[in-house]
Amino acid sequence: MSATATDGAGTNGPPPSAFEPAEAIWTGETDDILICQAVRDETHDVKTFVLAPAEPGRFRYQPGQFMTYAFEIGGETIYRCYTISSAPTRPDRIALTVKRVPGGPVSNWLHDSFKPGMRLRAAGPMGDFTSSAHPAAKYLFLSGGSGITPVMSMARTFHDLGREEDVTFIHSARSPADIIFREELEAMARVNPAFRFVPIVQNVGPLAPSTGLRGFLTREILDLVAPDFREREVFVCGPTPYMAAVREMLAAAGYDMARYHDESFNFETLSASEQSEAVEAEEQLESEAEAPVKTYKVEFSKTRRTIDVPADMTVLEAAKRAGMRLPSSCSQGLCGTCKSKKVSGTVEMDHKGGIRQREIDAGMVLLCCSKPTSDLVVER
Ligand SMILES: Cc1cc2nc3c(=O)[nH]c(=O)nc-3n(C[C@H](O)[C@H](O)[C@H](O)COP(=O)(O)OP(=O)(O)OC[C@H]3O[C@@H](n4cnc5c(N)ncnc54)[C@H](O)[C@@H]3O)c2cc1C
Ligand code: FES
Repeated sequence: MSATATDGAGTNGPPPSAFEPAEAIWTGETDDILICQAVRDETHDVKTFVLAPAEPGRFRYQPGQFMTYAFEIGGETIYRCYTISSAPTRPDRIALTVKRVPGGPVSNWLHDSFKPGMRLRAAGPMGDFTSSAHPAAKYLFLSGGSGITPVMSMARTFHDLGREEDVTFIHSARSPADIIFREELEAMARVNPAFRFVPIVQNVGPLAPSTGLRGFLTREILDLVAPDFREREVFVCGPTPYMAAVREMLAAAGYDMARYHDESFNFETLSASEQSEAVEAEEQLESEAEAPVKTYKVEFSKTRRTIDVPADMTVLEAAKRAGMRLPSSCSQGLCGTCKSKKVSGTVEMDHKGGIRQREIDAGMVLLCCSKPTSDLVVER
């Protein structure tokens, strides 16, 4: 897969060599180009990319927030969200930390092709998964795999500020070699008695021995590591099944779920049962088409699929029900992941800032919050 240098993506000479503290606050509204400064290996399949604004500027965001990036890959624009893994206390740069997903177009392109000096377009920061919105004396951070990034940003922020919040950070990884940011978290724990880092690994092997906890996060482990968990504000991020299990475990333990906060990167796969649900939903959709609500034809020009979409349903929802897998995450018109080119037709779009006016003028739509008002052709 190749990256083109169209519309702001691609190489543009060497990165700036001298560091000049900036006064201005970066805003994607006036300048959405970010330049890669460095690429760092975190684990065998996770890399961190450090980005600087094209024009001198400082980033202002809350720890745990994310950005949406536009990637020009193989002649196509693909949108993906990435948490800012760095801390807002170091505002001259932002970092994203990306796990390579087998077969995934963007994560593999970032790992294989994105190099210092190359540019990206970005929108944000956005998201409300942040400790700043929920001040507390004690926190419990629970993460799985690459879901560590938002809580890492929170931990780095507390550390940089020399704050006294009591943080227990339990991270689940496949093996010791998969523990992202391990050295840094252990270093934080060494110098700050109020910060505890507890990794749990599923597998150990001869090349990756471990003396720590093994298996999955269970109630027994939680009671052992954070017996006072009911007193803590909880932040959870990880794969969907992990988050579902944690939520269930805390609710069953009588934890006050008003103090529970989670964020999904939405990385589940469509299971066989979900696929059959999708087929059932498609049948339901077909029967709904007979109902009085007007129905429009929506054609996806790349996959050459046409579905019926009732006027009171979003295109994304109808596509999901028809068993199609379109990129999406927030489903609220916020993150921009589902942004697509509308080739023809009209929609009623009720977004929450995930698309800019100039993109709307150029024919882009967010499928998660767009209902058809005519037959449509969408470039997907
Ligand atoms: C708010 C938000 C923040 C995010 N922050 C990060 C981050 O900090 N680091 C990061 O690596 N990713 C993050 N993601 C996921 C990221 O946006 C991409 O989905 C991911 O990099 C895969 O993109 P892709 O194009 O390679 O593959 P896709 O085509 O998007 O995904 C291919 C398949 O892999 C699954 N998948 C996606 N991400 C992962 C993952 N991390 N681990 C395992 N399976 C996955 C998808 O569900 C899908 O089934 C975030 C997503 C959201 C919505
Ligand atoms: S899925 Fe987030 S804007 Fe559509």
